[in-house]
Amino acid sequence: MTSLVEKIEKVAVRIYSDDWSHGWAHADEVRRYALKLQETYGGDREFVEIVALLHDCDQSDRSKHAENSAVQAKKLLNEFGYAKTDRAVELIENHMKPWQGKCAAKTIEEKLLFDADKLCVISAKGVLRLAEIAIGKGKLDIEKLISIYQVGEDTYLPDSKELCLGEEYLATKKFIEFLARDFGCKLK
Ligand SMILES: [Fe+2]
Ligand SMILES: [Fe+2]
Repeated sequence: MTSLVEKIEKVAVRIYSDDWSHGWAHADEVRRYALKLQETYGGDREFVEIVALLHDCDQSDRSKHAENSAVQAKKLLNEFGYAKTDRAVELIENHMKPWQGKCAAKTIEEKLLFDADKLCVISAKGVLRLAEIAIGKGKLDIEKLISIYQVGEDTYLPDSKELCLGEEYLATKKFIEFLARDFGCKLK
Protein backbone atom coordinates (compact mmCIF):
# COMPACT_ATOMS: atom_id res chain seq x y z
CA MET A 1 0.00 0.00 0.00
CA THR A 2 1.24 3.49 -0.85
CA SER A 3 2.12 5.47 2.28
CA LEU A 4 1.00 9.05 2.86
CA VAL A 5 4.56 10.30 2.38
CA GLU A 6 4.83 8.47 -0.95
CA LYS A 7 1.56 10.02 -2.11
CA ILE A 8 2.75 13.49 -1.09
CA GLU A 9 6.11 12.97 -2.76
CA LYS A 10 4.38 12.02 -6.01
CA VAL A 11 2.46 15.30 -6.01
CA ALA A 12 5.47 17.32 -4.83
CA VAL A 13 7.61 16.10 -7.72
CA ARG A 14 4.95 17.52 -10.04
CA ILE A 15 4.33 20.87 -8.35
CA TYR A 16 7.94 21.90 -7.79
CA SER A 17 9.77 23.43 -10.71
CA ASP A 18 13.14 22.19 -11.97
CA ASP A 19 14.76 25.42 -10.71
CA TRP A 20 18.09 24.21 -9.37
CA SER A 21 18.07 26.35 -6.21
CA HIS A 22 14.44 26.21 -5.03
CA GLY A 23 12.84 23.48 -7.13
CA TRP A 24 12.33 19.79 -6.47
CA ALA A 25 16.05 19.07 -6.02
CA HIS A 26 16.09 21.50 -3.08
CA ALA A 27 13.01 19.96 -1.42
CA ASP A 28 14.52 16.50 -1.83
CA GLU A 29 17.83 17.66 -0.33
CA VAL A 30 16.07 19.29 2.65
CA ARG A 31 14.15 16.04 3.18
CA ARG A 32 17.39 14.05 3.12
CA TYR A 33 19.11 16.28 5.69
CA ALA A 34 16.01 16.53 7.91
CA LEU A 35 15.62 12.75 8.05
CA LYS A 36 19.32 12.30 8.76
CA LEU A 37 19.07 14.79 11.66
CA GLN A 38 15.87 13.18 12.94
CA GLU A 39 17.78 9.92 13.46
CA THR A 40 19.93 11.73 16.03
CA TYR A 41 17.60 14.34 17.50
CA GLY A 42 14.23 12.56 17.37
CA GLY A 43 10.91 14.20 16.61
CA ASP A 44 7.99 13.05 14.50
CA ARG A 45 9.69 11.46 11.48
CA GLU A 46 6.67 11.36 9.18
CA PHE A 47 5.76 14.97 10.04
CA VAL A 48 9.32 16.15 9.43
CA GLU A 49 9.43 14.42 6.04
CA ILE A 50 6.10 15.93 4.99
CA VAL A 51 7.00 19.51 5.93
CA ALA A 52 10.41 19.17 4.30
CA LEU A 53 8.80 17.97 1.07
CA LEU A 54 6.29 20.82 0.99
CA HIS A 55 8.07 23.75 2.67
CA ASP A 56 8.97 25.63 -0.56
CA CYS A 57 6.29 24.22 -2.87
CA ASP A 58 4.98 27.57 -4.18
CA GLN A 59 7.71 29.81 -5.59
CA SER A 60 5.44 31.94 -7.75
CA ASP A 61 6.40 34.95 -5.59
CA ARG A 62 9.72 34.41 -3.80
CA SER A 63 9.01 37.14 -1.24
CA LYS A 64 5.77 35.41 -0.16
CA HIS A 65 6.82 31.82 -0.79
CA ALA A 66 6.36 30.67 2.82
CA GLU A 67 2.75 31.91 3.01
CA ASN A 68 1.94 30.66 -0.49
CA SER A 69 3.53 27.27 0.13
CA ALA A 70 1.47 26.97 3.34
CA VAL A 71 -1.74 27.57 1.33
CA GLN A 72 -0.76 24.92 -1.24
CA ALA A 73 0.26 22.48 1.49
CA LYS A 74 -3.04 23.01 3.32
CA LYS A 75 -5.04 22.14 0.20
CA LEU A 76 -2.98 19.06 -0.47
CA LEU A 77 -2.84 17.76 3.10
CA ASN A 78 -6.58 18.29 3.59
CA GLU A 79 -7.20 16.26 0.44
CA PHE A 80 -5.16 13.45 1.95
CA GLY A 81 -6.94 13.84 5.31
CA TYR A 82 -3.64 14.28 7.17
CA ALA A 83 -4.37 14.56 10.91
CA LYS A 84 -1.54 17.07 11.56
CA THR A 85 -2.39 19.43 8.71
CA ASP A 86 -2.79 22.54 10.89
CA ARG A 87 0.58 22.02 12.57
CA ALA A 88 2.32 21.35 9.26
CA VAL A 89 0.74 24.41 7.64
CA GLU A 90 1.77 26.61 10.57
CA LEU A 91 5.36 25.38 10.40
CA ILE A 92 5.57 25.92 6.63
CA GLU A 93 4.05 29.39 6.94
CA ASN A 94 6.63 30.37 9.56
CA HIS A 95 9.65 28.54 8.16
CA MET A 96 11.45 31.72 7.06
CA LYS A 97 11.07 33.56 10.38
CA PRO A 98 14.21 32.14 12.00
CA TRP A 99 16.08 33.21 8.84
CA GLN A 100 14.80 36.73 9.31
CA GLY A 101 15.64 36.77 13.02
CA LYS A 102 11.92 37.18 13.81
CA CYS A 103 11.79 34.18 16.12
CA ALA A 104 13.84 31.12 16.82
CA ALA A 105 12.68 27.63 15.91
CA LYS A 106 11.18 26.09 19.05
CA THR A 107 9.90 22.56 18.52
CA ILE A 108 12.32 19.84 17.47
CA GLU A 109 10.54 19.54 14.11
CA GLU A 110 10.96 23.30 13.47
CA LYS A 111 14.63 23.02 14.37
CA LEU A 112 15.13 20.06 12.06
CA LEU A 113 13.50 21.88 9.15
CA PHE A 114 15.46 25.07 9.78
CA ASP A 115 18.78 23.26 10.03
CA ALA A 116 18.08 21.11 6.98
CA ASP A 117 17.09 24.17 4.92
CA LYS A 118 20.13 26.07 6.17
CA LEU A 119 22.51 23.21 5.41
CA CYS A 120 21.53 23.65 1.77
CA VAL A 121 23.15 27.10 1.96
CA ILE A 122 26.39 26.15 3.66
CA SER A 123 27.13 23.09 1.48
CA ALA A 124 29.36 23.50 -1.57
CA LYS A 125 26.25 23.65 -3.77
CA GLY A 126 24.73 26.09 -1.29
CA VAL A 127 27.59 28.52 -1.70
CA LEU A 128 26.79 28.52 -5.43
CA ARG A 129 23.18 29.39 -4.57
CA LEU A 130 24.49 32.29 -2.50
CA ALA A 131 26.76 33.37 -5.34
CA GLU A 132 23.73 33.43 -7.61
CA ILE A 133 21.99 35.78 -5.16
CA ALA A 134 25.11 37.91 -4.73
CA ILE A 135 25.91 38.23 -8.42
CA GLY A 136 22.47 37.73 -9.92
CA LYS A 137 21.58 41.38 -10.20
CA GLY A 138 24.77 42.35 -11.98
CA LYS A 139 26.27 43.82 -8.86
CA LEU A 140 28.54 41.75 -6.63
CA ASP A 141 27.22 41.85 -3.05
CA ILE A 142 29.67 39.79 -1.00
CA GLU A 143 28.39 41.17 2.31
CA LYS A 144 24.94 39.85 1.53
CA LEU A 145 26.40 36.47 0.55
CA ILE A 146 28.32 36.27 3.80
CA SER A 147 25.43 37.43 5.94
CA ILE A 148 23.09 34.77 4.50
CA TYR A 149 25.82 32.16 4.93
CA GLN A 150 26.03 33.12 8.61
CA VAL A 151 22.30 33.20 9.42
CA GLY A 152 21.49 30.97 12.36
CA GLU A 153 25.16 30.46 13.16
CA ASP A 154 24.32 30.33 16.92
CA THR A 155 21.15 28.29 16.69
CA TYR A 156 22.11 25.07 14.89
CA LEU A 157 21.54 21.83 16.70
CA PRO A 158 24.98 20.90 18.09
CA ASP A 159 26.14 18.45 15.41
CA SER A 160 23.96 19.23 12.38
CA LYS A 161 26.78 20.46 10.19
CA GLU A 162 29.08 17.57 11.02
CA LEU A 163 26.35 14.94 10.70
CA CYS A 164 25.16 16.07 7.28
CA LEU A 165 28.11 17.80 5.63
CA GLY A 166 31.27 16.78 7.48
CA GLU A 167 34.36 18.12 5.74
CA GLU A 168 32.25 19.76 3.04
CA TYR A 169 31.16 22.22 5.75
CA LEU A 170 34.75 22.90 6.80
CA ALA A 171 35.74 23.52 3.18
CA THR A 172 32.95 26.04 2.54
CA LYS A 173 33.65 27.74 5.86
CA LYS A 174 37.27 28.20 4.83
CA PHE A 175 36.18 29.44 1.42
CA ILE A 176 33.88 32.05 3.01
CA GLU A 177 36.71 33.16 5.29
CA PHE A 178 39.00 33.70 2.27
CA LEU A 179 36.22 35.52 0.45
CA ALA A 180 35.62 37.81 3.43
CA ARG A 181 39.34 38.50 3.68
CA ASP A 182 39.72 39.19 -0.04
CA PHE A 183 36.82 41.62 -0.07
CA GLY A 184 37.62 43.19 3.29
CA CYS A 185 34.33 42.06 4.87
CA LYS A 186 33.88 41.26 8.54
CA LEU A 187 32.71 37.86 9.71
CA LYS A 188 30.53 37.64 12.81
FE1 LIG B 1 11.86 28.68 2.04
FE1 LIG C 1 14.01 25.83 1.46
